[in-house]
Amino acid sequence: MGKQSRRKRERQPGETKVHRYLARAGLPDQPDPGPYRRLAAADPEWFDQVVVADDFSLLLSRKRDAEPGAILAATRTRYGLLYRDLDTALAEYASRPVMIAAAWLRWWFRHHPPATRLLDIGCGPGVLTCAYGLALPEAEVVGIDAVPEAVACAEELADRLGVRNVSFVTGDFLDPTVGGDGFDQVVAVTALADAGLYPQDPPEGSDALSSVADVDGPGPEFRSADADRLAGRLSPGGSLLVLDRTPDPSQAVRLGAALLHAGVDLDLGRAGVELFVEGGQPTTFTRFAGVRSGAPATLDRTLRGEELAAWIKCVPPPAFGPEWHDELRFEALKADGARLVWGCELNYSPTLERREIWEHDGKVYGWITTTGSFRELATGRSPEELWNEYGAYAGRCAAKGVQVRFHDPA
Ligand SMILES: C[S@@+](CC[C@H](N)C(=O)[O-])C[C@H]1O[C@@H](n2cnc3c(N)ncnc32)[C@H](O)[C@@H]1O
Repeated sequence: MGKQSRRKRERQPGETKVHRYLARAGLPDQPDPGPYRRLAAADPEWFDQVVVADDFSLLLSRKRDAEPGAILAATRTRYGLLYRDLDTALAEYASRPVMIAAAWLRWWFRHHPPATRLLDIGCGPGVLTCAYGLALPEAEVVGIDAVPEAVACAEELADRLGVRNVSFVTGDFLDPTVGGDGFDQVVAVTALADAGLYPQDPPEGSDALSSVADVDGPGPEFRSADADRLAGRLSPGGSLLVLDRTPDPSQAVRLGAALLHAGVDLDLGRAGVELFVEGGQPTTFTRFAGVRSGAPATLDRTLRGEELAAWIKCVPPPAFGPEWHDELRFEALKADGARLVWGCELNYSPTLERREIWEHDGKVYGWITTTGSFRELATGRSPEELWNEYGAYAGRCAAKGVQVRFHDPA
């Protein structure tokens, strides 16, 4: 079997559709920062403004007490710059969010319920809205975005693609008077954190333990009037599909809890976690899907909240947190040609631990993994330090009777 046909076979369902759609929209399959970098180089003043606006938005998203008006103003400034015209918007999209869009569409093509009226919340330049319109030719598809430049880009993209069943509204999606209601599908992809719907700040102390404490503690109780408004857009029995930034498990719990309290019966079997590398940094996203039950939004959903926290904890490791991120950094180094120079395997039975030293581009990296979820990438150390630490540890273990096997990288 040739390489090509094997690759074709390995494609997941929906992949071909996504690939074709992205090509039609003028987007690559994999992130391509080239065009965006060239735009930045051609207009450094504009790019400086983008960087300042990005940083400011990030700062606000981490503040529990940020003023909603300030969040919206920052959103308008930031996306007004990024979406100054469709080519800029698509270049920025190609440089980062294209992987998020591709993963989301792969999932959506496979799992979306039928819809006659679909609302795309925070539609940005309309890349996803147009895909929904093409996939549901009989449906009325509406995109809403607070930024007029986003809506102008989205309208132009729909024109370019010849999608006739989509329309766009400029306005704050948290304002129920804008954009209508009675939708049987509401989709929000990477929009809710941007709108400040749930706090993005890591819990106090920001270590793995306090994060789990937040999952057990106030996380499942988290409510948001904005989530209630969002659910209010749905007709009873309508579906809400969400993918959003949740770098810490407690944020996933807050988002899920807000949706549960808003009267959306989450189907945890369809929820999931995705990880993307953005600007060199791995970031975790959580996907929720549920149906508006029609129950009053004030219904006490504490029990489901506990179920949600339990679900988050059961996401297979290392799905959230530093372990998973370290794993990705390590994978990136390996893909970039890092070389194993030393390693050993410790058998604590039933757990195995590996300690390795890798070299790349004149730097060394320590890499510790266990058959459990532990992953640790040590950077910024000298070869001697790592060698002494790992070697001495292996020696102490061996002296205590632990089976130690050394790799021979040759
Ligand atoms: C990261 S972009 C996502 C675009 C699109 N959903 C996608 O994934 O391709 C987030 C969008 O949400 C919009 N947004 C943020 N807060 C909003 C609000 N309160 N009302 C309407 N749109 C908002 C922003 O203007 C931006 O275009």
